[in-house]
Amino acid sequence: MSGEQASDREFDRERYGPWAVVAGGSEGVGAAFADHLARAGVNLVLIARRPGPLAATAAAVRGRGVRVRTVEQDLTAPDALTRIRAATDDLDVGLLIYNAGANTHRGEFVESDPVGVQRVIDLNVTAPLLLCRHFGRRLKARGRGGILLVGSLAGYLGHADIGVYAAAKAFSRIFAEGLWLELQPYGVDVLELVLGVTRTPAMRRAGVRLDLPGVAEPDQVAAEGLANLAAGPVLVAGGNLPVALARSGAERATLVRENARAVRALLGGGSAAARDVAGDQPVASARPPVPPA
Ligand SMILES: NC(=O)c1ccc[n+]([C@@H]2O[C@H](COP(=O)([O-])OP(=O)(O)OC[C@H]3O[C@@H](n4cnc5c(N)ncnc54)[C@H](OP(=O)(O)O)[C@@H]3O)[C@@H](O)[C@H]2O)c1
Repeated sequence: MSGEQASDREFDRERYGPWAVVAGGSEGVGAAFADHLARAGVNLVLIARRPGPLAATAAAVRGRGVRVRTVEQDLTAPDALTRIRAATDDLDVGLLIYNAGANTHRGEFVESDPVGVQRVIDLNVTAPLLLCRHFGRRLKARGRGGILLVGSLAGYLGHADIGVYAAAKAFSRIFAEGLWLELQPYGVDVLELVLGVTRTPAMRRAGVRLDLPGVAEPDQVAAEGLANLAAGPVLVAGGNLPVALARSGAERATLVRENARAVRALLGGGSAAARDVAGDQPVASARPPVPPA
């Protein structure tokens, strides 16, 4: 991770501290959020499933001098909110970051495994709604704070094989806009931070090629998100705004088909795992299907 940035020093700890909850806070962008927040003096509650990476990230950020609690928890499990509340009810939480959510299921929807599909919805829709309601209500009563949801470029366009993931990310973005409207009057910022392909351990494990131009670094997008918490409701990180705009035009059939062609051309020989994240690829920036809206 990079050295201290000006944004870490300037981070508004009074507004977003003294504690932050990072759901999916053990690796990649989640760990980068934790590191930046720790440098800004914010204490952390980190949530993830695997104890190893969770303990490693917790130890690293404790080294920055902040207090850290960890919750080993699958966010899609029915007891998730109960266990997260047990770890946070006594804390003054000023910031919720919902980061977990990379795609876990692919294939034609009509042939898909309903359990796998449901897991994508549980991780990207149900769990963030539960946490946003719980922490959003607390932040509203407190009169200040923030909620950051990690979104995806995939959420701007329909995609074959990862259609539920893409639709869930579209849901997240539109939901964030409404929540932003509702919570603004109470001093609570809401931001959907939209990512393109980012160099995370999850992507590495999936076998995605991360040596292509335009791949973002977790440290960079986390810093961008934290520096722009008050600039909601939506921020497209990593210079990918032109891609989001190109995917937002009104000629949906043309956009969807041409983007699908571009994805096939890019990933023609790629692995199934690579196609899992095809929607996150900023392919449209190289050859926009239609001019940006
Ligand atoms: N990386 C990219 O190229 C890219 C592109 C666009 C958008 N995004 C978005 O960026 C976010 C982070 O993605 P990522 O690539 O870092 O992969 P990820 O699989 O979402 O992992 C991020 C963190 O979430 C945790 N996590 C994942 N599933 C969980 C679950 N069911 N319960 C609790 N914790 C869970 C992981 O730890 P454990 O596995 O130990 O639980 C890890 O700490 C996601 O929302 C993704 O959609 C990523």
